[in-house]
Parts: sequence; structure tokens; C-alpha cells
Amino acid sequence: MAKLSVSEIIPGMILLDDVFDESGILLIGNGTDLTPNHIDFLKRKMVTEVNVKRIDGEAEVKVITRPVVEATDVEEKYKSTVVKFKTIYNEFRLGRVPVYQEIDDALEPLYEAILSDDHFTRKMWQIHAYDDYTFDHSVRVSMISGLLAKWCGLDYSKIKEAALAGLLHDIGKCNIPDQILNKPSALTVEEFKVMKTHAILGYILIKDIPNISYDVLQGVMQHHERVDGSGYPNGLKGNEINYLAKIVAVADVYCAMTQDRVYKKAMHPFEAMSFILEKCHSSLDFSMSKSFLSNISHFYIGHLVILNNGLSGEIIMTYKDDPARPLVRVGEDYYDLRRHIDMEIVSMVD
Ligand SMILES: [Fe+2]
Repeated sequence: MAKLSVSEIIPGMILLDDVFDESGILLIGNGTDLTPNHIDFLKRKMVTEVNVKRIDGEAEVKVITRPVVEATDVEEKYKSTVVKFKTIYNEFRLGRVPVYQEIDDALEPLYEAILSDDHFTRKMWQIHAYDDYTFDHSVRVSMISGLLAKWCGLDYSKIKEAALAGLLHDIGKCNIPDQILNKPSALTVEEFKVMKTHAILGYILIKDIPNISYDVLQGVMQHHERVDGSGYPNGLKGNEINYLAKIVAVADVYCAMTQDRVYKKAMHPFEAMSFILEKCHSSLDFSMSKSFLSNISHFYIGHLVILNNGLSGEIIMTYKDDPARPLVRVGEDYYDLRRHIDMEIVSMVD
């Protein structure tokens, strides 16, 4: 047994203690055969040293093999759009209205990725936030909205509109005071009232841009409307809500839950999926949520997860009837989480 710095551990060493993060959440359990993904994960979580058992001889090194996913290309497209969107956001903030072509150009790299790459979201999970939450969040919502439009069978022009509505959905926040927008704790009732105006402010900011479509305008103004009437600004219900707004709503909820905030740690994707599965029977559109869940869960097949019993496993398969509870392989054993209701995914390794 040896206590080693994380920079010294190599694949095949066996972890001899549970490793927790600073808030007490289990990262990797005792007994795990460390893979390159585990080691990278520990580094990203700023773990400095761990207790491991050395394994001598290559024959004893056990590395879980999975397809290598190249994230670089998607990351470049994402970064390029974040940089351009930041410029657009700041123009709105200064009271200038960008031309349609400038916004469309910002999205061009993403259109191509959304249409051509079915593993896009899987790669997206590996991208770390590049800028402030608002910019990072808007681009992620744009990507997910475009993908969801594709999964719903919409044509190319509608996929582009969904990505555009996703990018601009929170543009009204550029007119919300910074002390409310960046408050690191819960908003008061009065502050929340101000924050809620961003949906209408966004509509007002973009309504005079030539070529912007009616659906994109409604998608931006209605992205906080909910099918059960519990949303804002107008408390619309069911089919009163524009379909692009329903797409952006699902994307917005998923991205907000899976991104770190100053006051709240990100949920892992399966926890967010569980939440959306629950809400698709009340506030989120049922068929769009179902389409989203069955497609997005599929992208996590092959990913390593940590379970609440401390074991790590690989996602083998997801199920349409309960996408948030996949089949997980732990060593030689397979666990269908739909049946093992005492087992939960607590974190993802990569
Ligand atoms: Fe919003």
C-alpha cells in the first residue's frame, strides 16, 4: 500500500480508500481499478493524493476499454460560438442591435455539428465551461435545442431556428441589473420579479431584427412558459405555447441542472434526466421531453459512473421506459437500475 500524489498514479493501480470531494460527495470507491479516465477525473476534481496498491507486471493491469471520443473539434466549434455570442450580447447591452447575419454566423459551426454528428452531445459533456455562465449556458442551450429539433424530426430550417432561439433565449438578461443577475444566493421575491422580465425584454430586443422569424421571437419570449400554466410571463398552457419555446424549455432545464453555478454544484446527467422525466407529466411538454430523454440517455452509453455503493461501472444500455435508470456493468455483473431501486448513480467519471 502506498500514499501517492495523483500525478504519480498509473492505470491498473487499485484504490484502497474511498475518495470524496470537498463537500463530502463520493468520487471513486475503494477497490476501483484505476483507469486513465479515473485519473483524469481525480485531477479535475483537484484531489492531491490517494492510497493505492501497486500492481507489478503488465498482465495485472486492468484498464476498461472504451471508444476514444475526440472532443477537440466540438470544443473548437463551441468556443468559437461562445466568443462571437459574447460580442453579440455586449452589443445588445450597449443598446446596439446586431444584424441577423452576425448572429447566424456565430451559429454556423454549430449547425454543421448538430446535423452531422450523432455523438455531439456525448462530446459536449467533456467540454468545460469556457466563459461566464450566461455565455456558456446560452451556447449549450442552443446546441441542445438544435439537437432536440432534429430528434423531433423537424427540417433543417426549423433546426436552425431552434438553435437560434436557444442562443438568444436569455438575451433579455443583458438588461437585468448585475447585482440581481450575478447574486450568489437565492433571489428575494422582488428580485425574482425583476429577473422574470428577461423573457419579455429579450423579445423586445430582437423583434426588430430583419429576418428573425415569428417562431424564434415566441421561442425567446415563451421559454419560461410551462404546459400546466405554471410558467411566465403570461401563464400560457399546452398548445398556447409555441413549439420552439417548448424545445428551448427542455434544453434550458437540462443545461441549467448540469452546469455548475456559484451557489450550486451541477447535477450529473442522469439526475437531470430523472427530473425531466418527472416534469414531463406536468410542466414540460410530454412528447418533446420523451424524445429528448431517449436520445440523450443513449449518448452516455460507454461512460463510466460511480454508484452509491461506491462501485464504478460502465453504462451498457438505456431504456425508453426509464432513460434515467440504465443498465450498468460492474466487473462481471450487470445491474438494471430500473429493478435495483436501491442503487443510484452518484457521479460520472468523464
Ligand atoms: Fe430564461
